[in-house]
Amino acid sequence: MEQKQRIQKLIAQAGLASRRQAEIWISQGRVTLNANVAKLGDRADLNEDRVCVDGKELTAGQKKVYLLLNKPVGYVTTLSDPQGRPTILHFLTDIDERLFPVGRLDLNTEGLLLLTNDGDLAARLLHPRHKIPKTYRVKVSGQLSSVAQQKLTRGVELEDGLTAPAKIEHLRSSPRNSWFDLTIFEGRNRQVRRMCRAVGYSVSSLKRVRMANIELGNLASGKTRMLRSDELENLKKM
Ligand code: URA
Repeated sequence: MEQKQRIQKLIAQAGLASRRQAEIWISQGRVTLNANVAKLGDRADLNEDRVCVDGKELTAGQKKVYLLLNKPVGYVTTLSDPQGRPTILHFLTDIDERLFPVGRLDLNTEGLLLLTNDGDLAARLLHPRHKIPKTYRVKVSGQLSSVAQQKLTRGVELEDGLTAPAKIEHLRSSPRNSWFDLTIFEGRNRQVRRMCRAVGYSVSSLKRVRMANIELGNLASGKTRMLRSDELENLKKM
C-alpha cells in the first residue's frame, strides 16, 4: 500500500497549518524533504522521510485541539495583523498549541469562532461542497419586509453571483429595528452584510450563534471552551 502522502497534507495533519497555507510554505521554499527543498507535488512518508518546516522536523500524531471562542467585536480573526489591530490571539494566551481559525468573522462581527490545529477537519468544514450551515443573529434598521425576507431566503444577486437559498427564523421587529436568525450554507466574504445591503437594509449588529452542530450557547464574550466529545464526533461526521 502507498504510504507516501502529499507534503501539504502531512503538514496539515500535523496541525501546523491548513493545506492551502502549507502549499504556500512549500512554494516559498520553507519546507525540506530529506535535505532538499520540497516542491509542490512531492510525497513523503514520515516513517521513512524527514520533512522539516523552517528547519523544524515534522512528527506524526500531534495532539489535536478544538476550541470555541466567543469573539468580541473589535478583534480581527487572524493571529497577527499588519495594521496592528487587536487580534484573537489576545484570548488564546493559555493555549500552548498553535491553532488557526476555521473561517473568519469581520472586525465588527462577534460570536462563534472555531479554532483548531486539525488542518484536515478545518479544510472539510470550509469546503463549499459540504455546505456547512452557519447561523447569524442579525439586527437591521427598519422593519424587514416580506419581499426582503423572500429574497434573502431564495437567493440574492451579489457581485460574486447569486447566493444559495438561506433560512430565516425568529423574526421580530420594533418600530425602528428588526432581529432575525439567518442561516447560510456558504462562506463568502461579508456575506450576511452584503445580502442585507442588497435587499435594502443595513446591518447594525451581527453575531454568529451556530456553526454545523455547534451552538455558541451562553459562552461569555471573549471566553473560550474546548469542544465536547459529542460535538466533535458529530462535526467529524458532517
Ligand atoms: N457575514 C458577514 O457579513 N460578516 C461575517 O463576519 C460573517 C458573515
